[in-house]
Amino acid sequence: MNIDESAYLAEPFRIKVVEHLKVTDRAYREKAIRASGFNLFNLQAEDVYIDLLTDSGTSAMSDVQLAGLMMGHQAYAGSRNFFKFEKTIKEIFGFKNVLPVHQGRAAENILFTCMVNKGDVVPANSHFDTTRANVEHNGGRAENLVIKEAYDTEKILPFKGNMDVARLIGLIKKVGKAKIPLILLTITNNAGGGQPVSMENVREVSKIARENGIPLFIDACRYAENCYFIKTREKGYESKSVKEIAKELFSYADGCTFSAKKDALVNIGGCLSMNDDALFEKAREMLILIEGFPSYGGMACRDLEAVAIGMREALDEAYLKNRIRQVHYLGAKLEKAGIPVLLPFGGHAIYVDVKKFFPGIQQREFPAQTLGVELYIEAGVRGVELGTCAFGKFGENGELVPPELELLRLAIPRRVYTDRHMDVVADALINIFKRRDKIRGLRMTYGAKNSLRHFTARFEPI
Ligand code: F0G
Repeated sequence: MNIDESAYLAEPFRIKVVEHLKVTDRAYREKAIRASGFNLFNLQAEDVYIDLLTDSGTSAMSDVQLAGLMMGHQAYAGSRNFFKFEKTIKEIFGFKNVLPVHQGRAAENILFTCMVNKGDVVPANSHFDTTRANVEHNGGRAENLVIKEAYDTEKILPFKGNMDVARLIGLIKKVGKAKIPLILLTITNNAGGGQPVSMENVREVSKIARENGIPLFIDACRYAENCYFIKTREKGYESKSVKEIAKELFSYADGCTFSAKKDALVNIGGCLSMNDDALFEKAREMLILIEGFPSYGGMACRDLEAVAIGMREALDEAYLKNRIRQVHYLGAKLEKAGIPVLLPFGGHAIYVDVKKFFPGIQQREFPAQTLGVELYIEAGVRGVELGTCAFGKFGENGELVPPELELLRLAIPRRVYTDRHMDVVADALINIFKRRDKIRGLRMTYGAKNSLRHFTARFEPI
């Protein structure tokens, strides 16, 4: 069936089990957020009504996945669930070697420890926070080379996650290919608004990588959503299946890191996959050291089964269509109310452009964090700051240098919330927008020096 012919598509699933949500009042939430140092990461999750902190590990599993958990064959070595996992990953990503890991950052840790030396440079379209931190932890420098339009939150482009090919060539010339152990493409580009990367861009980056003998790795967290955008936006892919598109995309790369917590619709899991046998052997040794035996990585065998099943469910195009539709439903409501949101809407989240939302709050007063706190107090909705707290850097005099973009991300878990939940999120933001002139910023009272500061920072109102 061609899903576009189905004009009556609502959720292509129905609800079999429900999870109770705690409903709180404003006074309760004010107390809770104060106790958490005005950091949404410090809240007790049960005190959150609609949790848009992340789309990672928060998917609802299907009846088939839950049944799959019961089919877990718990064995230290050689579980049948591993062979199914390995076969599925190979079939979809197409690389020769597969290592299971408990989540994406474990794959990053292993890959960069094996490949990155002190003084190396790792270019990406944009590194996500854990990716950057893992590069830096190994003495490398993480370079973001996303196209410059990505920093213009109003510019509408179909593939705003693309890497700037000219800047990549320039970087290789400047630092020399010997200093670049790998090139990374994050699909979709989470730190840049969940924007997709085009097949054409993957092809171009791959060509440059191959000409220079530099391996190309894909950060594949949201590969299915990215491939769905290719299908719906890139010429020549309209009649290909998302699975076929994925196969072509990965064929241009040498390997991938993958957090199954996103597009494999599970609560935990991931993999590191590559063609290079020597790298595989080195990575496998480290896997055994830090994660577990190569037939389970850091996962229980039942979770390997759930990943294998979820990988296929996430390639269902009726699912993908509805998934992206819901994200865009929220975005469109906000845009219609005049709230500055990053355009075009991404695949997994809506990002509020908080510099424009709060023109009166300086970046050093953490406007995106402020909006996150306000939204929680207003309606019990939790988003995440991707701004000065998460990405600001300390300058030589100890001052915090803010990043280009100041965003509040509303990430939508897969198959979890209804459109009515999205209405509540939109209404709450619209009400805050109406009284935005009366809102003051925050002062950081504790902030770690490293690049994962946002998890532990504490604030007080100014
Ligand atoms: N790469 C990207 C693009 C990510 O978005 C994430 C996680 C990771 C790597 C690391 O994967 O969490 O399984 O270790 N992103 C989550 C988020 C945490 O909220 O965007 P992980």
